[in-house]
Amino acid sequence: MFEEAQYFAPVVADADGNLTVQLGKGHPGFSDPVYRERRDRLATLASRWTPGEPCPTADYTEAEHEVWRVVCEALRVKHEKYASRVFLEGKDRLGLPTDRVPQLEEVSDLLAPLTGFRYQPAAGLVPLREFYGSLADKHFWSTQYIRHHSVPLYTPEPDVLHEVVGHGNCLAEDRFATLYRAAGEAARRVESEAALEFVSRVFWFSLEFGVLREGGEVRTYGAGLLSSFGEIQQIEQATLRPLDVARMGVQDYDITHYQPLLFCGDSFDQVEDVIGGFFATADDDAVAALVRPAGV
Ligand SMILES: [Fe+2]
Repeated sequence: MFEEAQYFAPVVADADGNLTVQLGKGHPGFSDPVYRERRDRLATLASRWTPGEPCPTADYTEAEHEVWRVVCEALRVKHEKYASRVFLEGKDRLGLPTDRVPQLEEVSDLLAPLTGFRYQPAAGLVPLREFYGSLADKHFWSTQYIRHHSVPLYTPEPDVLHEVVGHGNCLAEDRFATLYRAAGEAARRVESEAALEFVSRVFWFSLEFGVLREGGEVRTYGAGLLSSFGEIQQIEQATLRPLDVARMGVQDYDITHYQPLLFCGDSFDQVEDVIGGFFATADDDAVAALVRPAGV
């Protein structure tokens, strides 16, 4: 129910470069000064990180490790029923710990030998072109905080569970890694903001919220669904449309509700052909041709 470019809490810096994360009043951690202090500290650490350095270490509390345990177990059950085979293969390969929150550096060390991807810490919103473009270099910008422990199965923003359980397990699989890199190359190739937005929507409706048919069932390969205990089962109620890049790139979505409309591939092979094919060739002219009404 969120999107990298739109749902981060604003972050402001003081004169010394210390960041404050401005949680909204409805955020589960809003009234928890300990949680807020840690959010601010993690954001500040990330903002001081420079490329090539290890990701800063997050001092997760026992309550936060418990959140990780609860969510991993809840999602394990959901993944058996709703996750696509290719995701489950990535999950097996990566072998994330389920009893504690892993550090981003640990995740990088598990991923790099598999597909070459590494994580890098985001203090808050990463601009679209930077976020997606970095995928071309096998770099994944990631938040480091975890959702508030009072509601472990809910988060209003993309936290480390989304970034690592959702995206990390995908990035461990070569077929996903190729798609993510192609998306990054597309984001770098397009020049107009409109074309970049189009690419990001295709990413949203595929690598975040995509579904496919497998063995007579609908399963998901999208990190947004794969990391959401509440939303993953909604794929049974969603209206499914065939893969159609021209439509996906202009389809609106509401980040505050479960996605009522999802795009469904016949197989992961088809996802690679259609979505990967688009990313491989997308430029401003190609996007403009897709947006232009037929016959114009
Ligand atoms: Fe995401």
